[in-house]
Amino acid sequence: MKKVILSGMRPTGKLHLGHLAGALDNWVKLQKEYQCFFMVADWHALMSEYENTSLLSENIIDNVVDWLSVGIDPKESVIFIQSKIPEHLNLHMIFSCLTPLGILERCPTYKEQLREVKTRDLNTYGFLGYPVLQAADILLYKADKVPVGRDQLPHLELTREIARLFNNLYKKDIFPYPDAILTQTPKLLGLDGRKMSKSYANTINLSDPPQVITKKISTMFTDPKRIKLTDQGHPNSCNVFSYYTTFIPGMKDEVYSWCIAAKKGCTDCKKILAENIIDKISPIQRKREELCKDIGEVRKIILKGNNEAQSLAAKTMKEVSKAVNI
Ligand code: TRP
Ligand code: SF4
Repeated sequence: MKKVILSGMRPTGKLHLGHLAGALDNWVKLQKEYQCFFMVADWHALMSEYENTSLLSENIIDNVVDWLSVGIDPKESVIFIQSKIPEHLNLHMIFSCLTPLGILERCPTYKEQLREVKTRDLNTYGFLGYPVLQAADILLYKADKVPVGRDQLPHLELTREIARLFNNLYKKDIFPYPDAILTQTPKLLGLDGRKMSKSYANTINLSDPPQVITKKISTMFTDPKRIKLTDQGHPNSCNVFSYYTTFIPGMKDEVYSWCIAAKKGCTDCKKILAENIIDKISPIQRKREELCKDIGEVRKIILKGNNEAQSLAAKTMKEVSKAVNI
């Protein structure tokens, strides 16, 4: 029996290179070794975007199209939509009863979001329970491993804590204590050197046409100390170089040497980067086009995934209901 993986993404916008490097490439690799469940976390999206949901259903399907385009294989992995499996809410409810308020209020991601997010009101009952729902997502499928970014570690800690509380309270060994699988790639910065995020409009999206990619890359910030063409560059403090390292590692050494020897200008360096990135994602984009022509097929894949996910979720909930006497 393969070990189980569950991971999810909130459908809050178009997927970009940061998602590819930070999650999707890793998901694709994990499919063979593990039984993977990949979930569109639309309830989690609702928890923070409830004031503006106009693009939500569009984003859900668009994200799944991207997953399939990068190589998530519906024959190997289960792709499903969180809100189609009500068992997540049942388990969330039960977990809510036994999760101490303090551990949620102290959760670093919660405190940070309340402090940082100014454009939405996150001071809600639902948002406090964000990690409780995430624990339900993970434990419903008894996942052994959860591939996530470093920022999600507090949520995994809470997941294990909730599993422990439940197992101890009801004297049952129902839930495992899942570990994170951390993605190795360092955080990819956006075009402007800030965190890559749709809200900063500094992303390169998987669906961007080649001309758009070239144009976006031409606006990237480079080594601030390199002003003239003849100045030597410092690749390690240049965001363009980190894109090479992440996406075109085969060219890393070459770029490093042309940069420190001032053999190429930044404009050329970026032009070459754009060509290579376009090349690298062209198979993804071709697959995307194909899938977009047959959205019915994508919907079928999702329905099948929902069914598979639900049958396992229902099985776990049977055990849970029995343990809780409800
Ligand atoms: N909170 C995760 C994020 O923002 C998304 C998510 C929801 C998730 N449920 C999950 C990730 C379960 C892993 C497992 O990235
Ligand atoms: Fe950055 Fe390339 Fe310019 Fe060097 S040559 S500073 S790596 S853009």
